[in-house]
Amino acid sequence: MKTKGSMNTFYNYAFPMPTVLVTSKDMKNNTNIITIAWHTTISRNPPLYGISVSPKRYSHGLIKQRMEFVINFLSFRYSNEIHFCGTTSGKHVNKIKETGLTLEPSKTIETPSLKEGYANLECILYDTQTLGDHTLFIGRITYVSCDQDSFDHRILNNQKTKPILYLGDNNYCTLSTEKEIY
Ligand SMILES: Cc1cc2nc3c(=O)[nH]c(=O)nc-3n(C[C@H](O)[C@H](O)[C@H](O)COP(=O)(O)O)c2cc1C
Repeated sequence: MKTKGSMNTFYNYAFPMPTVLVTSKDMKNNTNIITIAWHTTISRNPPLYGISVSPKRYSHGLIKQRMEFVINFLSFRYSNEIHFCGTTSGKHVNKIKETGLTLEPSKTIETPSLKEGYANLECILYDTQTLGDHTLFIGRITYVSCDQDSFDHRILNNQKTKPILYLGDNNYCTLSTEKEIY
């Protein structure tokens, strides 16, 4: 039986969504991490990737100022760190120190990538759109790094590298089955 759903939390019906950690850098060269569930591929050519960020987030100002960011894809085993980065602000907390996640230099931009990422997309800000109560930051991808062991012919090996999916509130899951259609 269907009943009326919640307009206030309509976005919950779109979950589960893969969740990423986005790194950005402040003017003192400190790196911050924000957890982002509202993100999407936008274009293949040019290669564009979008993240929807509330102006309330500390990361919002950093991305606007520095005009670059990195999308870091981490697996389910980092769910505690991912949740921490989504429930604390870099305004008050050094998330690198608190999570123990490791920075590594990016190849094309100054903002570091996360070593724990099985893939990292280095992005230079391409466009900024204010859409309702969030800002869509669109990044042009300038470099992609990936852990070869996590992929079979460019497809994520779901057995080896479990992706993290966000269900809403404090809930996360990962995938247990997969199939290839011939
Ligand atoms: C799983 C998860 C997904 C989130 N997705 C988003 C998102 O897509 N956009 C956003 O603005 N905030 C999102 N948040 C909230 C921010 O991650 C959170 O407010 C964070 O503390 C902001 O960090 P900052 O102030 O250091 O930038 C999410 C939080 C969690 C736990």
